[in-house]
Amino acid sequence: MPGLKNRVVVVTGAGGGLGRAYALLLARAGARVVVNDLGGARDGSGEGTAMADQVVAEIEGEGGQAVANYDSVATAEGARAIVGTALDTFGAIHGVVNNAGILRDTAFHKMTDADWEAVQQVHLFGAYHVTRAAWPHFREQGHGRVVMASSTSGLYGNFGQSNYGTAKAALVGLVNTLALEGAKYNILANAIAPMAATRMTEDVAPAELLAKLPAEQVAPIVGYLLTDECTDSGTVVVAGGGQIHRVQLFQSAGVTFPTTPTIDDVAAQWARITDMTGAVPGVNPVG
Ligand code: NAI
Repeated sequence: MPGLKNRVVVVTGAGGGLGRAYALLLARAGARVVVNDLGGARDGSGEGTAMADQVVAEIEGEGGQAVANYDSVATAEGARAIVGTALDTFGAIHGVVNNAGILRDTAFHKMTDADWEAVQQVHLFGAYHVTRAAWPHFREQGHGRVVMASSTSGLYGNFGQSNYGTAKAALVGLVNTLALEGAKYNILANAIAPMAATRMTEDVAPAELLAKLPAEQVAPIVGYLLTDECTDSGTVVVAGGGQIHRVQLFQSAGVTFPTTPTIDDVAAQWARITDMTGAVPGVNPVG
């Protein structure tokens, strides 16, 4: 089996849903897992220890190694404590799966600052804080694996999820740069847009669709991205229901104007500018 044995992996939001499936599979593959979960409700309210404890008990019941952590990913202090749990318990940290998440869905014209900020704090700032706390250890040991939980809502948009989709797309932006900065140190950063039946999706998709989307089917791709053998970085995959697809940004052949175009010039060429025939993967021209 590809290398995960004794690797120490933090899975945030692992007290239920996808995170639980990731934690269980990683432990079965021999990884030592920090099962982090704040233990609150889907909208981020409340907290508790039972969710993380339950998953640790399941892993230990199967003979695996895990430790619970109940801190919130949403603050730098919480994230340092999460990474600290890995270091204190297992003496190392080799990977983080930034999976913790909440939902505050509402149409954009009804969006409140509180609902906007709460979602950014958990998804975007949470992934930043936890990865930032682990990063020096990854650099020092010349090994690190980062997996971000993105979403098709961020990649493609979704009605009522402007706050959530923004955070999820931002994580792809973070992965793009972490992949560049981590390359020299064997630190890989990738993003996954999962699709699974969990408490997050229980009332947003039809039951017959959800029945085909068990969380367990997403876990192997996360496991693979954490292995020693994986060499891909900056990759985004959509995974669920037994299917795994890569998603990539492409750039059209476009139009080159010899001099600064007028608005009329742009309008006249718009069809050619936006024609994706012969498009190629986008690269940063100044990178
Ligand atoms: P879930 O609600 O079952 O899991 C999220 C977990 O994160 C919960 O156990 C929750 O207690 C925990 N959490 C929330 N705030 C936290 C915080 N501040 N600190 C630590 N833990 C916290 O939902 P699900 O579906 O398992 O989602 C997992 C990830 O996958 C999320 O990031 C979600 O946005 C993403 N995702 C899920 C999809 C799906 O189809 N289920 C689709 C696209 C993305």
